Amino acid sequence: MRPHITINAAMSADGKISTHRRIQVRISGDDDFNRVDNIRASADALMVGIGTVLADDPSLTVKSGQLRSDRKKRCGSENPTRIVVDSMARTPVNADIFKKGEGERIIAVCENAPQNRVEALQQQGARIITAGEQQVDLAGLMSELKTLDIDTLMVEGGATLNWSLVSLGLVDEIFTYIGALVLGGVGAPTLVDGAGFSDNTDAAGLELISMERMDNGVLLKWSVLDTKII
Ligand SMILES: NC(=O)c1ccc[n+]([C@@H]2O[C@H](COP(=O)([O-])OP(=O)(O)OC[C@H]3O[C@@H](n4cnc5c(N)ncnc54)[C@H](OP(=O)(O)O)[C@@H]3O)[C@@H](O)[C@H]2O)c1
Repeated sequence: MRPHITINAAMSADGKISTHRRIQVRISGDDDFNRVDNIRASADALMVGIGTVLADDPSLTVKSGQLRSDRKKRCGSENPTRIVVDSMARTPVNADIFKKGEGERIIAVCENAPQNRVEALQQQGARIITAGEQQVDLAGLMSELKTLDIDTLMVEGGATLNWSLVSLGLVDEIFTYIGALVLGGVGAPTLVDGAGFSDNTDAAGLELISMERMDNGVLLKWSVLDTKII
């Protein structure tokens, strides 16, 4: 068994989630920001790849004071559990996920992660989950998260982690906010990068659930067909 997994991302009209400089860029507006804050507050856990931590240093906290206090009353913590997929334990000890907000932090590493790095992260209060030899075994990690009572998980990027999850059939829903700008750049990350499917017969099929005009762009909600329960 695994949690219900949702990917949320903001992308440009040409499908880029950042520029070729791979830095954080504002793609959506205030309405989408508030929507994301609401789903954050309702999720049991949030997940990012180490590439996103190193590029954007997100705190992954709930921003609205009202949502934080409602969540605290409901679940005992202001913020969802924050999870970094980080094979070699490269998460900086001064990353914003450690500095900002209350709540549990999990770093998912592989067996080859250097022990001194793992210990440094434990000293920051992180729970370490080891899954996989060379890279984090995402299916194994998801099973373990379910045993920790994580039933709903929102993935906030980036492109490489999204690819692994989609290609493994581990994603149930995708929210894409499409902003009113073109970023371009062959080296700029897209919603899903990685190796890619070689044919449309292998591709992950989607069903469009809803579309809504928001800020100056559009929010699409997709359901992923044929996901794996594990
Ligand atoms: N617009 C948006 O909504 C949005 C949201 C988030 C991020 N971003 C952008 O996305 C970019 C970062 O994306 P990214 O693709 O470079 O990094 P990423 O997807 O955040 O992280 C990828 C890294 O995760 C680690 N990992 C461990 N196990 C893995 C597995 N089984 N499958 C996949 N990855 C695994 C790998 O590094 P190790 O092997 O070293 O562990 C891998 O390089 C940045 O430019 C950021 O600004 C945009």
